[in-house]
Amino acid sequence: MFLPDFNQFSGGGSSYAPVLLLLFCALCILHAVVSRNPPPHIPGPFLARWTHLWLAYQAYRGRRYKAVHAAHLRYGRVVRISPNHVSVAAPEAISVIYGQGPRAPAKSAFYDAFVCNGKPSIFSTRDRLDHSMKRRVVSHAFSSSALQEFIPLIHSTIGDFTQRMDEFCAKEEYFDALLWFNYLAFDLLSDLAFGERIGMLKQGSDLVEISRAGETSHENAIALVDEREHLAAIVGIHPLIQTVVNSLPFLSGNKATSGLEELARRQVLKRLLSGDHRGDILGKLIAARGYDVRSPSTDEIAELTAEAVTLLIAGSDTTSNSIAVTLHFIATNPPSAKDVPYLQATINEGLRLHSTTAIGLHRYAPAGGLVCCGHFFPEGTELSVPAWTIGHDPEVWGDPEVFRPERWLESKENKQYLLAFGKGPRACIGQNLAYIEMISVLSTILLRYKVEVKSQVFETTEGFMHKPRDCWIKLSLR
Ligand code: HEM
Repeated sequence: MFLPDFNQFSGGGSSYAPVLLLLFCALCILHAVVSRNPPPHIPGPFLARWTHLWLAYQAYRGRRYKAVHAAHLRYGRVVRISPNHVSVAAPEAISVIYGQGPRAPAKSAFYDAFVCNGKPSIFSTRDRLDHSMKRRVVSHAFSSSALQEFIPLIHSTIGDFTQRMDEFCAKEEYFDALLWFNYLAFDLLSDLAFGERIGMLKQGSDLVEISRAGETSHENAIALVDEREHLAAIVGIHPLIQTVVNSLPFLSGNKATSGLEELARRQVLKRLLSGDHRGDILGKLIAARGYDVRSPSTDEIAELTAEAVTLLIAGSDTTSNSIAVTLHFIATNPPSAKDVPYLQATINEGLRLHSTTAIGLHRYAPAGGLVCCGHFFPEGTELSVPAWTIGHDPEVWGDPEVFRPERWLESKENKQYLLAFGKGPRACIGQNLAYIEMISVLSTILLRYKVEVKSQVFETTEGFMHKPRDCWIKLSLR
């Protein structure tokens, strides 16, 4: 938990905490009143009309997607979820809010919460030109030929994974497979991105060495990712919250950020020193940027570190959580997974019903404003399309609560409403790699093992990503 320990502000028996809290709320409300942008008649929860704290509180509880979904059920397709932010749960809004072209809505200040050490990455940059340049460079690492090169590495890591799963078969007991999908995804990602497997599968643990201010400790990498994501999802709601919270280095979310940066920076320095800059994603980036690897500048190291942190976070738990969710749906809805197209349809159905990105991704209305669903939104209005609500919309899917992979084989149109990988110019660059990973891992599991799940339902939690809390299964060899 990263909330401030207000006792730290206490002095001589009197506590300043309530005063600070009141001042903070007053500032948020004042800022909200001054910066109210969207038409005043847009309905929404009462508190959300006046303060960003309503949305920040929902994000803090890890239930933002649910609260926004409930608001749509109550107020309709167009809902104000904070003073300057309108959520539009309409299929036709997808191509407007996540559209292409020079007037495409840009990412909003929400993404500043994901910036590392002042250096925006391909994911967090808000500048169109900076993004195009970064995307051009990074896309080399995700080309079809690069993906072909990755396949043997993926198979080798899956080999380590099956060895560990065979051990669980012998034990004949339930275990939390989500942990092992996380280890698998981290090992895969570190192999593909940094040319070096972290070795979580072999270790059977996610402990990594972190050095901060000269002190070395062993910390859980998965917890670092979770805490950083959760913090970013809350502080991103308003720049003021971001400034206040980021100035408190003792918060565990901030410590997690610095830990991940340290981990990524170490990988960057290793890669620069190694001299071989082709095989992995970071190597391809270094080669494409043409850095002088013998004497990289501090700026170049910081830029590469920002990209490495993005890869660590964007490429690891997204994939592991999606694998866990799909496996759960397959095991609770037999018969399934007949062939690769059917497995791909099954993965899409899992991503629709339980999208790893369940919130709406924040964008700004461009200069001159934007018309969407019959409303005009002035420049600077924050807009988003809630992925969860679209994925469960009866007008789009007919029977949204039913797990039915066949719908993806019946109609190619469905893909335009799947928001799991985002849409438009900022859609996931690792999407093809993620499908290769998910298909390889799931087909290996289904061909090799019989899977029993412990519970028919799974609990979830939400930071920036929406994740299952666990995935208890029992395996036996086929
Ligand atoms: C099932 C797995 C995955 C899911 C559900 C997923 C989801 C997403 C989503 C929703 C976005 C858009 C974010 C936004 O607009 O705010 C995104 C962007 C991104 N993803 Fe993924 N992702 C997955 C796997 C991966 C992998 C394996 C990698 C790389 C190794 C990756 C790298 C990225 C990057 C670099 C971006 C930023 C792209 C840009 O802004 O141009 N992702 N991802």
